Amino acid sequence: MFKINPYRPGAGLMPTYIAGRDEDIANVGQMFDALIMNIPTQSIIFSGLRGVGKTVLINKLQNIAEEKEIFCRHIEVEERNDFIFQIAACSQAFLRKVSTKEKFKHLIQKPLDAIKSLMVSFNPNENTFSFSLQERELYISINLTQSLTEVFVTIGETAYKTGTPICFFIDEIQYMKQNELGSLIAALHRANQLGYPVMVVGAGLPKVYKMLSEEKSYSERLFLYKEIASLTDEQSKTAIEEPVKRLGISYTDEAIREIIKITRGYPFFIQQMCQVVYKRTDEKIIQGIHIKNNINEFFELLDAGFFKSRYERCAESDKKFVFAMVKCGELPCTISNVAKNLHKSVSAISTTRAQLISKGIIYPVRYKELDFTVPEFTGYIQRLEEYQQWCEEN
Ligand SMILES: Nc1ncnc2c1ncn2[C@@H]1O[C@H](COP(=O)(O)OP(=O)(O)OP(=O)(O)O)[C@@H](O)[C@H]1O
Ligand SMILES: [Mg+2]
Repeated sequence: MFKINPYRPGAGLMPTYIAGRDEDIANVGQMFDALIMNIPTQSIIFSGLRGVGKTVLINKLQNIAEEKEIFCRHIEVEERNDFIFQIAACSQAFLRKVSTKEKFKHLIQKPLDAIKSLMVSFNPNENTFSFSLQERELYISINLTQSLTEVFVTIGETAYKTGTPICFFIDEIQYMKQNELGSLIAALHRANQLGYPVMVVGAGLPKVYKMLSEEKSYSERLFLYKEIASLTDEQSKTAIEEPVKRLGISYTDEAIREIIKITRGYPFFIQQMCQVVYKRTDEKIIQGIHIKNNINEFFELLDAGFFKSRYERCAESDKKFVFAMVKCGELPCTISNVAKNLHKSVSAISTTRAQLISKGIIYPVRYKELDFTVPEFTGYIQRLEEYQQWCEEN
């Protein structure tokens, strides 16, 4: 028989109840109000581990901004380099919206030229606009920062004059190239200096903090940087209970304690655990024993999905590096301990380290220290036969 299941494990899947983010939602809501009133406001970047709820949060914020009639666009940066194309396409979409009103048509040409220049100069696959060679000469620029700033300033001016504030929601910011991030910061900074209503709400892995701090000195004032952590016990309880309340189902305190112990309050794990338990239990009151009975299936699902998808992105040398991190015992670990476990020098493994960081598997915690971006990844690696075999050989 079909049974409605209100739990939603999956990348970016909106949960039926968003637990523990009320304060962030209220704060950013106020920032949107300031943006609408043209009171200079900061942009914000959320960072956190895999599955902690960054995408869900920024999607929720986008809904709120759209209700407030802010022009919104969602950008997901991917490892292949298409950020420039995406930001240009979003800016074009803004112009399309504005141009539907006859009285604003004269405000389009300047920003459109800026977008053309950005595309022609920095998007190698540019085929949106057809240019003659001579035109191309006119638009070509060699400076990304200058070009992107021109786009932000001109669309910002149009946003200001038409009373249509803009907010770009940029997910997976860690995949941006450092020079793209630098240019984005400079462009946003200039548009804000001129009092234009353009804002960015971003999300990314903890690595973004380092990326930001390596950029312009004013990036700290431009962006509010907020870490998103796993849910507290109280918040986890609501994440577990609220989705099934309407269905007349409840959990005993013992069951809730068990779930929190196993999931450590990570939203993705809570959704996955509760989905399994709910699917396989027909009682109105879910008890501790029901949780215990389903622990194996929970881990099997995680191992075959959430963890495996990350592990499979590792090349052979990456895997050895990951094994050596796990062998350190405690995380974060130092690069020199990883090197020691691999019987290599620090410099010999620095390329692999950089590769794993850019793939988003590990991140630098403090100077020379490393940790996994995937919560509970250590346990997964320890369950792998490949790891056990490697330990025997090393
Ligand atoms: N506040 C929350 N309350 C309850 N469940 C949540 C919450 N936030 C996220 N989830 C659930 O957790 C899972 C992961 O959320 P999401 O994809 O937003 O994480 P993420 O931080 O973007 O992960 P990644 O770094 O892999 O992109 C989803 O199944 C979602 O439904
Ligand atoms: Mg995400």
